[in-house]
Amino acid sequence: MAFYSRVSGSVGVITLQNPPVNALSAAVRQGIVDTMHRALSEPEVKSVVICGQNGKFCGGADIREFGANMRGPPLVPMIHLIEAAEKPVVAAIEGVALGGGLELALGCHYRIAHSKARLGLPEVTLGLLPGAGGTQRLPRLIGVPAALELITTGRHATAAEALQLGIVDEVTDHSAVDAAVKFAQSVAGKSLDARRISTYPRPRSPDLAEIFEKAMKEVRRSARGAIAPVTCVQAVHASVTLPYAKGMERERELFSTLFTSGQAHALQYYFFAQRAVSRWSTPSGARWDTSKPRPVHKAAVIGLGTMGRGISVSLAQAGLSVVAVETQEKQLLEAKQAVSGMLERSAKRRGVPLADDKIKYNCSVQAVADADLVIEAVFEDMALKKTIFQQLSGICKPGTLLCTNTSGLDIDELASQTQSPELVVGMHFFAPAHVMKLLEVVYGPRSSPEALATAMEMGKKMGKVSVAVGNCRGFVGNRMLKPYLEQAFFLLEEGATPEQVDQVLEEFGFAMGVFKVSDLSGLDVGWKVRKADGLVVPGSTGKSARIRGGSRYSPLGDLLCEQGRFGQKTGRGWYQYDKPGGRVAKPDPWLHGFLEEYRARHGLVARRIDHQEMLERCLYALINEGFQILQDGIAAGPEDIDVIYVLGYGWPRHRGGPMFYAGLVGLDKVLERLEHYHQVYPDVLGLKPCSLIRKLAASSSPPIHRWREFIQKPRSQL
Ligand code: 3HC
Ligand code: NAI
Repeated sequence: MAFYSRVSGSVGVITLQNPPVNALSAAVRQGIVDTMHRALSEPEVKSVVICGQNGKFCGGADIREFGANMRGPPLVPMIHLIEAAEKPVVAAIEGVALGGGLELALGCHYRIAHSKARLGLPEVTLGLLPGAGGTQRLPRLIGVPAALELITTGRHATAAEALQLGIVDEVTDHSAVDAAVKFAQSVAGKSLDARRISTYPRPRSPDLAEIFEKAMKEVRRSARGAIAPVTCVQAVHASVTLPYAKGMERERELFSTLFTSGQAHALQYYFFAQRAVSRWSTPSGARWDTSKPRPVHKAAVIGLGTMGRGISVSLAQAGLSVVAVETQEKQLLEAKQAVSGMLERSAKRRGVPLADDKIKYNCSVQAVADADLVIEAVFEDMALKKTIFQQLSGICKPGTLLCTNTSGLDIDELASQTQSPELVVGMHFFAPAHVMKLLEVVYGPRSSPEALATAMEMGKKMGKVSVAVGNCRGFVGNRMLKPYLEQAFFLLEEGATPEQVDQVLEEFGFAMGVFKVSDLSGLDVGWKVRKADGLVVPGSTGKSARIRGGSRYSPLGDLLCEQGRFGQKTGRGWYQYDKPGGRVAKPDPWLHGFLEEYRARHGLVARRIDHQEMLERCLYALINEGFQILQDGIAAGPEDIDVIYVLGYGWPRHRGGPMFYAGLVGLDKVLERLEHYHQVYPDVLGLKPCSLIRKLAASSSPPIHRWREFIQKPRSQL
C-alpha cells in the first residue's frame, strides 16, 4: 500500500510500503492512485514527493503477481495520472529505482537520488521489456544510444551516472526524502510544461538508422536466442518513429508478446531460484535458518595454481586476511606476481581499493595455524590431499573449518583424515574463481550444520551464489556433465563431427559447445581422472575397447590425449588452433580422418544424425542424471540444479536450467525419448530413465515447485 502524510504544511508525501523492496503490487498501485487524488484535491498541498519505506524507492512491478490475474489499477494510467498532475511531483530515490520503479520516477516531474542509489530497467533479465513507458520516456530524456544500452543490458546505473546522463536532477549524500521535500517546496507553483517527458519531441539524429542497426546486430550476437533483448530494441525504435501515444501502444503490444513467452517464465523462475538456494536444507533436516555460521576473519589457501590464485583474490576482496601457501619458492613467487596483477586489474575494473596488502605469502603450511578457515586447492590427487588434511588437522587451531576445492573427490574420505571430521566441507569454485559466481558447498555425511552454514556464508561474502550439495562423485555439476559428455563422444563414434554437435548446442543457447569447452578446460584433466579410475586401457582393441564395467565407453578422449592433443593449451584438441594457447577453434581435417579411421577399426558405420537426436541425447542424458541426483538427495530441489547449470556450465538462462527445461518440454515427452534411446542403446546406463522421472510422469507431471513432494527423503547422518 502507500502511506500519505503532509510535511512542512504544503508538501504531500506518498510513501510506498511493500517490504522488502516496495514492489508495485495491486495494493501499492491502488495506494498511489488514492493518495495522488488526495494530494491533488487538498488546496494546502502545493507539491508532492513520492518515496519508498525503509530507504528503498521501488524494485519495480511485483514479479510474484505475474502469474495471477491482473487486479488493481494498471501501472501505465497510474503513471500518466502523476505526470498529468498540475502540482509538481518529485521522486525521492533511495536504495533502488528499478523497472516499474524507475518508470514511476520518470513519470514524476523531478527526480532526486541518494548517492548510493542504483537505477535501471532490468526487465530484459526477466524476459520482458520496460512496459510502463520506459522504452518511450527514457530515449526522449537521455537519447537513444544511452537508453538502448541501459534497456538491452538491464544493468543498474549508479546515482552519479544517472545524474550525468540526465536521468536525475540532483544527487545528495544526505536523506533524499528531505532533499526532495525541500526541492518540492522550491518548485511549487512553477510551470510543469517542460517537465513532462512524454511531451518531449521524438529523439532525432542523422545516424539513428545506423545506431539501431548496430544495436540489433549486437543483441542478436550476444542474446544466444533470447528474444527480450531484440524486442527491447524494437520497442525503443518505436520511440523515434511514432508519436508518444502510438509508441506506447507498440510498447504494450511487444510487452504482451514477451509476457506470455516461455522465456519470460523461465527467467522469472530463475530469478526466484537464485534467491531460493540460499535457504538451503539437507536430508537430515539441517537448515539455513537454524544453523549459525561461525565468524571468519582470517582464511588460508593451500596451492596457488589456477584455482588457488582466484580463490585468494576473492577472499582478499571480501575483506579477509589471507595466508597463501605454495611449498616451492619459485611457484610461490610466480603466484604472488600473478595474484598482484589480478588484484590490480580487478580493483581498476570495479573501482574499489587495492586489496594486495590483505594477502601474506608463505612456503610453509605451518603459517595457516591461526586461520579460521582453510581452503585446499592442490592437484586433484587423493593421496596428496589426504596428506595435507592430516597435516592441517595437526597444525590448525581447534575449530578451524577445513575446506577442499576438489572437483569431485570424496569429502568424507578427506574428513576421515582429521580429528574433527564435522569441520570438513567442500568449497567447489569454478574457473576463473575470482570471476565465476557459482560455489558448490559440499557437505559430507559428517559435516556439521554449522560448518555448512559457515561455508555458505563465506561464499556469499565473496559475492558468490552458494549452493549446498551432498557428497558424491562429481557433486551436482560435474556428475551431470559425465553422461552429457559421454553422449557427445558416442555421437562422434556414430558419424557426427565435433562441429556439428557444438553447433546444435550453441543454437540451443550454450555459450560454447561441449567440444569447444573441453578444448578450453584441457582434455588432460578428465584423462587423469579416468586413468586414476582405471578406465584408460592403452592399446586395447576389439569389443572390449569400448566397454567398461558392462557399459558402453568411448575411448576417443583418451586416444586424443595419447597423441598429446590436450586442447587449446597444445594448439590441438577436438579442433585446431593457430598456436598453443590460441583461442579461435577451426575444424581439423586430421581429426575428421582420425574419426573415420577409428570407426573403420571398430566396425562402426557412420550415419547422418539429425539435429533433434543430437540435442535430445546430450540434454536428456544430463537431465536424467539430474533426476537421479534429486532422488539421491544430493540436491535438495530442482532450483539448486538449475542455478548450478546456469551459473557454472553455460546453460542458457532464458531456458531456466535443465530441470525447468524438462518440465517445459513435458516430463512424459522426456521420458518417452529416454525410453526410446535406451531401447536403441541398452548398453548406455545414462539413458535408462530414473525412477523419479517415471514417478512424476505417472503423476500427471506436476509443476516444478511440487517435485519435492515426490522425492523420498534419503537418510543422512548430518
Ligand atoms: N517483485 C517481487 N519480489 C521482489 C522483487 C520484485 N520486483 N524484487 C525483489 N523481490 C523479492 C525477492 O524475491 C526477495 O524475496 P525473498 O526474500 O523471499 O527471497 C526479496 O525481495 C529481496 O530481494 P533480494 O534478495 O534480491 O535483495 P537484494 O537486496 O539483494 O536486491 C533488488 C534487491 C536489487 C531490488 C533485487 O531484488 C532485484 O533486482 N529485484 C528485481 C528488480 C526488477 O527486475 N524489477 C523489474 C520488475 S518487472 C517490471 O517492473 C515491469 C514493468 O516494466 C512493467
Ligand atoms: P593447478 O595444477 O593449477 O595448481 C595446483 C597447485 O598446487 C600448484 O601450484 C602446485 O604447486 C600446488 N601444490 C601441490 N602440492 C602442494 C602442497 N603440498 N602444498 C602447497 N601447494 C601445493 O591445479 P588447479 O587447476 O588450480 O586445481 C586445484 C584443485 O582445484 C584441484 O583439486 C582441481 O580438481 C580443483 N578444481 C579445478 C578447476 C579448474 O578448472 N582448474 C575447477 C574447480 C576445481
